[in-house]
Amino acid sequence: MMNPIPVIAIDGPTASGKGTVAQRVAQELGFACLDSGALYRVVGLLALEQGVGLDDGPALAAVADAITTAEDPAMRLRFADGRILLGTRDITEAIRREEVGRAASRIATAGELRAALLALQRAQRRPPGLVADGRDMGTVVFPDACLKVFLIADVRVRAERRYKQLIEKGYPGTLESLLRDLEERDARDRTRDRAPLVAADGAKILDSTAMTIDAVVAQVLGWYRAG
Ligand code: C5P
Repeated sequence: MMNPIPVIAIDGPTASGKGTVAQRVAQELGFACLDSGALYRVVGLLALEQGVGLDDGPALAAVADAITTAEDPAMRLRFADGRILLGTRDITEAIRREEVGRAASRIATAGELRAALLALQRAQRRPPGLVADGRDMGTVVFPDACLKVFLIADVRVRAERRYKQLIEKGYPGTLESLLRDLEERDARDRTRDRAPLVAADGAKILDSTAMTIDAVVAQVLGWYRAG
């Protein structure tokens, strides 16, 4: 049966601006927003802290189950007012660290983990609509999305954008190491067996290399309203 609640899927490589665009589009339309990468980052953070092997699929799936169906309130994952909480612990900043992003990219190859996060992602679909960003929103999680956007940008421009964000937050790092890191993550996301990063059938490809965020948001809204 067709699900009447509209979903806009925005997929693309690391630091392509998906997150910001998704939030802005959701705000404009009054839709909910799903940052699916945050889920992989939360599991990545916990795996690092708990010493869970980054290639141990069943153990990673158990971590995902623990935070989504948590009986222990200290382990319950919540999104509230733009913050990400585990019980009462605020992990909004912790999951943005580069080492956590790297761990997230590694664990995301595990099919068991991806399956464990599927229901949680689909449960975010609620009226009047959802904007979901990630790697497999249009291909796997919401194949019936009414608009699929594949957002790309030149890797050097993406590295520069990420570098600026990190400097603003006072994190150390060099542009060259960030660039290498992005290339490595892109390659892993594109070549993995499960839910690889590819444009979904019917996706609109948007190259934001020479575009402002405002222009990207306007284009996505334009497509949605025209559809
Ligand atoms: O988008 P973000 O950089 O926060 O995602 C962190 C990592 O999680 C990515 O490098 C990617 O490997 C993984 N991911 C994924 N599928 C998604 C979202 C993120 O595999 N839908």
